[in-house]
Amino acid sequence: MKTDRGTPLKQAFRNIAIASLFASASLSYAQLEGSPPIPQSSNHPVPAIQDTETPAQRDARMQWWREARFGMFIHWGLYSIPAGEWHGKRTDHIGEWIMNDLSIPVADYKAFAKDFNPTGFSAHDIVALAKSAGMKYIVITSKHHDGFAMFDSKVDSFNIVAATPFKRDPLKELAEECRKQGIKLGFYYSQAQDWTAPGGAAAVRGNHNPETGHWDPAQDGSFDDYLHKKSIPQIKELLENYKEYPVVVWFDTPTKEMTPERAAEVVKLVNQHPNLIWNNRLGGTYKGDTETPEQFIPPQGYPGRDWESCMTMNDTWGYKSFDANFKSTETLVRNLIDIASKGGNYLLNIGPDSHGVVPAPEVERLQQVGQWLKVNGEAIYNTQATLFGPEAGSFSPTEKDKNGKPKFISTWDWRSTTAPNKIYIEIFAWPTGPFHLDKLPRKVTGAYLLADKAHKPLKITPSGEGLDIQLPSTPVDPIATVVVLNTN
Ligand code: GLC
Repeated sequence: MKTDRGTPLKQAFRNIAIASLFASASLSYAQLEGSPPIPQSSNHPVPAIQDTETPAQRDARMQWWREARFGMFIHWGLYSIPAGEWHGKRTDHIGEWIMNDLSIPVADYKAFAKDFNPTGFSAHDIVALAKSAGMKYIVITSKHHDGFAMFDSKVDSFNIVAATPFKRDPLKELAEECRKQGIKLGFYYSQAQDWTAPGGAAAVRGNHNPETGHWDPAQDGSFDDYLHKKSIPQIKELLENYKEYPVVVWFDTPTKEMTPERAAEVVKLVNQHPNLIWNNRLGGTYKGDTETPEQFIPPQGYPGRDWESCMTMNDTWGYKSFDANFKSTETLVRNLIDIASKGGNYLLNIGPDSHGVVPAPEVERLQQVGQWLKVNGEAIYNTQATLFGPEAGSFSPTEKDKNGKPKFISTWDWRSTTAPNKIYIEIFAWPTGPFHLDKLPRKVTGAYLLADKAHKPLKITPSGEGLDIQLPSTPVDPIATVVVLNTN
């Protein structure tokens, strides 16, 4: 197996590609592949903790999150009732956007609430599933763009307790189970978009009003009224009513309405919870704590920034009855390893249905990922990024990506993660002969298979500036077998 740091020309290509990737100008609501970065600054009318804390304070605040590496995203809400279809029309977009994409009138959408009685919901089972998958934290949608609150909100009655026959607070039940089972809990909150509250923002789709994004006069009103009478008061409820939770707040889609002044009002609130971790999607140029690449893995991660790749298991965040395009367990495990090797976290989504039940293909995959982590978690949790780098792939000197930039060609032969006295090599493509490392970032004193509890030494032979590792003829795990290099 050959690795190289790439020729100077390749490195130059790589630098140009990375720089140009962030050169484009327009705003982005989500951090999709190739989209320009969400505008960020460190100077604000109301400083956020990220603007003022020392690196040591930041490291202490982020420590548990960095060590966690793997979390569960839960997109669950009223959109699980239509489940991707309304009046015989199917949406080909993500399920939680159905109200916007199919221009469902506010009254029709709100009418779903009377049928929402997810008695199949079990906070115990969902938290146990996250734990069995090896996930260390959960982030659940407390209110998505549709404006329906999945918690007992006294601020607005369009919520699961007041407006449905279910009458229970899933966030409260999850908080109790997370406390019991020892896993952290965060809340996603769509702070700007709200398609059922008068004045709520709406990303413009199709023939909707080009200024407000609205499609129903019932949506019209003052954004400041929405912000002050619903959004900020609900964020306050979420921060104050669930004891030690949330430990994470996941803002989403900072539309043009989220000016620095308005975002500053939210920051005043989150500043009262100094241990809170929140992401880069509040708006108003607040960078938050984490980059949030969505549905992709950044080729080189974000050096110097904490980041989290959020991904669906199929193609939708919110449940769609007809989306069976689930990624394989192999893909999910290798994504987790790839992300960890670049110093990021993997936030992997489940989308419970209208009964509160997690689709079986998602349960099955999470349990299989958990099996891999049970044997190999040491190579993922509390590790740092690779000391090598070129193993992830390279930028094509000829092919261009959709933005005309050099296309990154991933190679999926192996990855590496790092610990103080160990280097982990996660091998995807089992070599026919010895596994070769071209250069060594540290002195290697021995090697063994992580799955081998006896740590029987593997034969290592110096080879050029690197070494050859003699491996068994077949991999321990066809998805990824981990070799541990003892280093000093
Ligand atoms: C996008 C979508 C939103 C989803 C989020 C998850 O912002 O608009 O529906 O919740 O991605 O990252």
